[in-house]
Amino acid sequence: MAEQYEGVTFADVHRDVLHLFPDAPSRVVDLGAGSGRDAAALAALGHRVVAVEPTDELRRLGERIHAGAGVEWVDDSLPELAGVQGPFDVVLLTAVWMHLDEAERLAGMRRILTLSAPGARVVMTLRHGPVPEGRRMWDVSAPETVELADRFGFRPLYVGARTDLHARSGVRWTMVVLEDGRAAS
Ligand SMILES: C[S@@+](CC[C@H](N)C(=O)[O-])C[C@H]1O[C@@H](n2cnc3c(N)ncnc32)[C@H](O)[C@@H]1O
Repeated sequence: MAEQYEGVTFADVHRDVLHLFPDAPSRVVDLGAGSGRDAAALAALGHRVVAVEPTDELRRLGERIHAGAGVEWVDDSLPELAGVQGPFDVVLLTAVWMHLDEAERLAGMRRILTLSAPGARVVMTLRHGPVPEGRRMWDVSAPETVELADRFGFRPLYVGARTDLHARSGVRWTMVVLEDGRAAS
């Protein structure tokens, strides 16, 4: 799995929304960071990055292969994220949100708000299509995600479809970028 995660780049995965990431050095949290591909790339761009990953093997691998990237790794999981301290200007959830059930997504969005600085951006990708054998995954639509986010004061900046970079049969993605409605300080 990590080979697959690291087989594409942050710029490839986020190419449709790269312009919505801040240029100025910012505080970023990558929730469900996997092996740290995005966390390391964002740190290399000058951001201060916390990578949160509950799977020990992936977190340890990420710490090893991206050693020296300046990423802070935390063992924690949505929705509680009890060990994560905000505020953050960017909350990244790449291929993570659909691994949460409905109650977890509700609690998770509430927690994302408390981790967000005013005006923060939430960047997420949603996977659609067949659920691989043995994976815990739901088909979470973009409209229901935007509707849930709206309840917590986030407004959509971007919603768009894209194909699967690994060309897996029947797999499609939606990219969603949300912005916290409070004015940035
Ligand atoms: C498909 S992988 C994506 C990894 C990475 N974001 C990437 O794009 O390469 C999904 C990740 O979400 C993590 N994950 C699953 N449930 C989670 C939860 N409740 N809280 C945080 N991370 C979770 C998994 O351990 C895994 O690393």
